[in-house]
Formats: sequence, structure tokens, C-alpha cells
Amino acid sequence: MIEGVSLIKKLLERGFNVTPEALELIKGIPSDQLDSLLDSIGQKPVLEYSDIIGFLGEIVEEDKPQAVEEVKEKSVYPEGFEPVKVPEKLGVRGAADEFIELVRKRFEFLRDIVLGKTGMDPIPISNLKASTRRNGDRVLIVGMVLEKRHMRDFSVRLTVDDDTGSIPVVFRKGSRYWERADKIPADSVIAIRGTYINGRIYAESFLLPDIGGDLEMPGSTTGKIVFISDIHIGSKYFNERVFTKFLKWLRSDYARDVRYLVIGGDLVDGVGIYPNQEDELEIADVYKQFELGAHFIEMIPRDIDIVYIPGNHEPVRQAEPQPQLSGEYLDLIKEVRPDIITLPNPSIVSISGVRICMYHGRSLNAISKHIPGLQPVRPETVVESMRWMLRLRHLAPIYGEHPVAPERNDWLLLDIVPHVLHTGHIHVYGVGEYKGVRLINSGTFENETPYIKSLGIEVTVGKVPVLDLRDLSVKIEDFSE
Ligand SMILES: [Fe+2]
Ligand SMILES: [Fe+2]
Repeated sequence: MIEGVSLIKKLLERGFNVTPEALELIKGIPSDQLDSLLDSIGQKPVLEYSDIIGFLGEIVEEDKPQAVEEVKEKSVYPEGFEPVKVPEKLGVRGAADEFIELVRKRFEFLRDIVLGKTGMDPIPISNLKASTRRNGDRVLIVGMVLEKRHMRDFSVRLTVDDDTGSIPVVFRKGSRYWERADKIPADSVIAIRGTYINGRIYAESFLLPDIGGDLEMPGSTTGKIVFISDIHIGSKYFNERVFTKFLKWLRSDYARDVRYLVIGGDLVDGVGIYPNQEDELEIADVYKQFELGAHFIEMIPRDIDIVYIPGNHEPVRQAEPQPQLSGEYLDLIKEVRPDIITLPNPSIVSISGVRICMYHGRSLNAISKHIPGLQPVRPETVVESMRWMLRLRHLAPIYGEHPVAPERNDWLLLDIVPHVLHTGHIHVYGVGEYKGVRLINSGTFENETPYIKSLGIEVTVGKVPVLDLRDLSVKIEDFSE
């Protein structure tokens, strides 16, 4: 058996990323058999549970964490469409021990990634603090940031915790990593190198889990994918004129290459989502909102496949990961489009080999609030917020600002690096890139609401990102005029 860190390193050297569930299985494989396993898999960017369990010759149905095959069996997807990571078997008690377990597993997975990059063994924090003889030693620790503070002289002080204890880490004002350290939010998993003096570490550098710059690109394929979100049908502020203009374009010759329409949540405005929402509703009945939604969806050409995940305004559970839309609301849409693909929020799918992570983006509020430099919310800052998801390898890296369910798997963990990350929610479009990953936020079709205005957000209505599958370039189609 090989330890987690060197194992991840070995897999990366062979060109494999690995899901946490697959990693757990691989840890149990004798090291002399690992090479033949990897040889038998051949070329595959991400090793999944199903790849490994087959090799072991065991089927552990009950414990199977990502039953992607089941999802595949249940639905017939268009050719070239595959679920890659889709939350399944959701449902927890929400008990404290479940949250603790979720954080522990996230920490362990991200710690192994960080350590794979340093190639060195960290010192457990309790060992450091146990001996004053270490004064002046250069040390490496890996932990989770409990809190960040500024000292009187503007130095940054992080409290970093591993499973043995916690320690203050100081980035002195003006030191090389000081400004960068100021951006690290709470709950980040981080490796820190520095000098130990009297119960503190004076930091010299740090590393985040981050994605590598070695993302393999999919083979070239044709067609386009249109990304929208935050339509808010039923709201007084829903801009029907602009949305109808968009739908008309979708039916026109200009959109003849479009193969998919991705709807990233908040299709309807819902009811009771926030206090006094009824004052802002044109249609105060969710069923009627979906009736109107189905009317619009019917206008989408049949040869464009629709993929739809919920947001915080859909009538599904609020805690993420959110299950896909179901019941009478889905029935209404299925009447007009029986082939609509509804998936949980978040989900990762592959379209002709292009991995697309769809996440409604509720965590963007917390990210822009807690990481300096991301306010005000504008196209550039939205994209920078999305980069932080990749640097921290998590879709909701900061805890406590919106409900997250402590499921057995951390479905928000970015263990698989997508080619495209799509979010919405913040009502400001943004398009950018990070280490080869295309970042797309799809703006809105809802005019400025009093609530959004109070947040100081200037919404971008009717600006729609379109991804060209040939080269993954993104163009904005503007329907706002
Ligand atoms: Fe929204
Ligand atoms: Fe939203």
C-alpha cells in the first residue's frame, strides 16, 4: 500500500486525476499491482470509483458512492452526453457529526493534493508546540484556516488548524506573500512554509490545492452551447421582452450551430424565497410560474437539447447539493419537452468530451464578501471569484453563509477539474479563463430588483454566453438593446 500523498503524486505523474472515492479504493491496492491497474485503464483523465472497483473484482453496491451508471441507465441521453459527477442518494440527518465528517474528508483530500505538490512531510502542529527546542527551525505545516485577522501593523495573522492542534501563522507586512495571504479566506486548506518562533510560525510562502496548469484539452468537436440562468419567471422584474428576443434568436439561422441550452437555475422566481418576496411577484403561485416557464421552453427548437439544474429559487430543498426538479413542476415542462435533462445542482457532465461543471453559484456572495478585491460585483470580479473556486478546489469554499447538506460525499469538492465552469446567481455575466478552464457566468433576464440594488450589484440583463465547442471560445450575444 502507498500513502495518500505519494499515491496522488504517482497518479499525477501518470497523467491521472482521481476522485476521493477512487483514491480510497486505490489506497488498498498493493503497490506492485498498481502499475498493472493503471496500464489496464490506459488513457483516462479522471479515475473514478467504477474504474477501480472493476479491477478489484468486487461490487459493493451498498457503498457505491457515485452511482453514475444508475443515472445513465435511467435516462437516455443524447449521443455524446455523459454524466461525470452527479449527486445521488441525497438525504442526511443534518447532525453535527455529519458536518464534522464532511469537513474532515474535505480536509484530508485537499491536504493530500497540497502535499503532493510540496513533496515533503509536514510537521503535525501539536509536535511543534510541544517543544521549545524548535525555535528558529524552518517548518512545513498543512492545515485548514480557522480565521484571518490583521495585526496592528497590518501584518496578516491566520489561525491554522490540523487534526492535532492549531497555531498562529504570521505573514509580516511587506513580506513577499503578505498581500496574497490577505486574500486567503477561512476554511481554506493550505500548506505553509516558515520559521517557528515561540509558538508562532512566521510564514515565508504558502500553497493552495489549486488546479494544475496541465489540463488536457478534449478533441475538437463542432457545435455550440448556450448558457443562461436567473430568468426569474413570475417576478415583476422578469424582462419578458428581452427573454423573448433571446428565444427568437435561438430559433433563427444565427443559432443554427447551437446543440445545447444549459439553464443554470432560477428559471422561476419561486415563492417565499426571502421576506416580503410577494411584493415583487407578478405570479404568486409556483405552479403558474412553471406553466409560463413551460410556455417559453416550448419555443426552444427541438433539436437543441436542454440541460436544467435548480437554483435557490426552485421548489427543491435549499441546502446544496440540491436535487433536480421533480414532481408536478417537472411534469409541466415534460409535457412540452419530454427530453429535457434535469440534474442536481451542482453536476458535472461531459458533452463530446468537454467536461462542464454546472453550479448555480450561491457561494459567489460569500466569496465576493470575504476575499478582498472582489467588490463591487462586475464581470471582471465575478470571474475572479470563480477562479477562487478552482484555487481552493471547492464550489462553496467558505462555510456558513448558505445552507449545505453534510452528504456522505462532498459533491461541491472540485476533485475533477472541468473544462468549463458555469455559474449564475449573482445576476452579472462574466467570461474568463483560469489555467485552461473556461469560466462562464450567465447573468440574468431579471431587471434590477430592490434587493439586488441594496447589494450594490449592477445587473446585466440579456447578455448570453455562447461556447464554441471547436475551440472552447466564448462569445457574448447581447439581447439587452
Ligand atoms: Fe437569481
Ligand atoms: Fe440564485
